[in-house]
Amino acid sequence: MKFKKLIAFGLAAVMAVSMLTACGGSKKEEVKDSTAAESTVPTVKEGVLTMATNAYFPPYEYYENDQIVGIDAEIAQAVADKLGLELKIEDMEFDSIITAVQTGKADMGLAGMTVTEERLKTINFTESYATGIQSVIVKADGDIKSIDDLTGKKIGVQLSTTGDIYASEDYGEENVEKYNKGNDAVMALLQGKVDAVIIDNQPALSYVAANEGLEILDTAYAEEEYAACISKDNEELLTAVNAALAQLTEEGTIQEILNKYIVTE
Ligand code: ARG
Repeated sequence: MKFKKLIAFGLAAVMAVSMLTACGGSKKEEVKDSTAAESTVPTVKEGVLTMATNAYFPPYEYYENDQIVGIDAEIAQAVADKLGLELKIEDMEFDSIITAVQTGKADMGLAGMTVTEERLKTINFTESYATGIQSVIVKADGDIKSIDDLTGKKIGVQLSTTGDIYASEDYGEENVEKYNKGNDAVMALLQGKVDAVIIDNQPALSYVAANEGLEILDTAYAEEEYAACISKDNEELLTAVNAALAQLTEEGTIQEILNKYIVTE
């Protein structure tokens, strides 16, 4: 089953990359840097880049006091600077992000969001800026020692995430408890309401560090690519954000931001 995921993912990645090569390269020079007087990129609100996220996903996005910080917040700020736009971050349920972008409530979704074939049917994705892994969190003293032990167990996930999609597909909806926040799924595991949580590896590491008695299974459930999603109706913004991301990659900024937040085991 994992193999199936990898193939699906490979396809999605190829689509995302070919999309990028199709509209990226030649328009690079249109990107303005932070010194640009005014941006010409079409956005929901003139002069503002509105980012939709779900800020309960450390280290990609989380609250520090009342401010949303993390990898995605910093990447979005760097992109906005390149495009001469002001950044505004809107926090919402993960499940609402794609709709917010499709319906013009936000310009882009940046939320540790995985590129999937299914999502590509409704929304465009930029070039990928990071990789993720779906991990399995269990109780350290429990009886689940490998992915094979998950059959017949209750699995907690964050609603509409790839963890939810894979678990529902592989173990049946009836065995999957869906929570609005990843942290709520982890709390349910601690309280014994679920037996395992399938979630992205970086938040998994931070949840395990913050709560005693939890561990992450050695085998990854699936490997993924993260990218920003942008409406299919705003190709111009997609091109501009891709060009900004390419510049930020070239300048080493993306790697610097990732290094600042990524925890290595
Ligand atoms: N990578 C997973 C997905 O795209 C989970 C992302 C959850 N992100 C968040 N900000 N809560 O489905």
